[in-house]
Amino acid sequence: MALGFPDASNGYEENAEIFMASRNPRIGVATVLEWSESLPHGASILDLGCGSGVPISQVLVEGGFAVHGVDASPRMIAAFRQRFPTAPAECAEVAHSTFLNRNFDAVIAWGLLFLLPADAQASVIGKVARALNGGGKFLFTAPREALRWRDVLTERESISLGYEQYLQLLHDAGLALTGEASDEGENHYYMASKP
Ligand SMILES: C[S@@+](CC[C@H](N)C(=O)[O-])C[C@H]1O[C@@H](n2cnc3c(N)ncnc32)[C@H](O)[C@@H]1O
Repeated sequence: MALGFPDASNGYEENAEIFMASRNPRIGVATVLEWSESLPHGASILDLGCGSGVPISQVLVEGGFAVHGVDASPRMIAAFRQRFPTAPAECAEVAHSTFLNRNFDAVIAWGLLFLLPADAQASVIGKVARALNGGGKFLFTAPREALRWRDVLTERESISLGYEQYLQLLHDAGLALTGEASDEGENHYYMASKP
């Protein structure tokens, strides 16, 4: 279905039902749960590009964290709100999210950053750094290699800036890379923290 207005979700709104039906609910869970063990009990976490919230926000909510979700797809955020009626949720392009004007103990961006143009990725990393409380944690997924590819679902271009550039962007934003991981779906994770 073609949309009659610019699609801030990078093609996910028109493919929302297919994505929600096909998102493997196991992929990423173990890695995110392990990362969350480093957070204080009840920590506030902002999930950028949260989708329907399954499985990432879900395991964090179940872990007792105070999760906020933002996604540019109205259908995704409607599903998120239905699943987590008390969790604050915002339908917005990440660049314009009002949640990024608040402060959080942690921010997670699973499957989001590489959907954005390179300059927008740098801008989001800067905004995340400013939104984090001291000692706050940032986890995002993106390939370790610098590469471009077509998203299988949306057929839009995805851009990984690669390890060296992500490291530089984190450093420029005042964040330190503290770890990396890979999951069962071959997704690569960058884990950073704010001093
Ligand atoms: C690959 S999906 C990942 C969804 C979820 N994090 C998960 O683990 O299943 C990418 C999500 O990012 C959202 N998205 C894409 N571009 C966005 C943007 N510029 N601002 C906010 N959300 C965006 C899409 O609507 C979609 O829900």
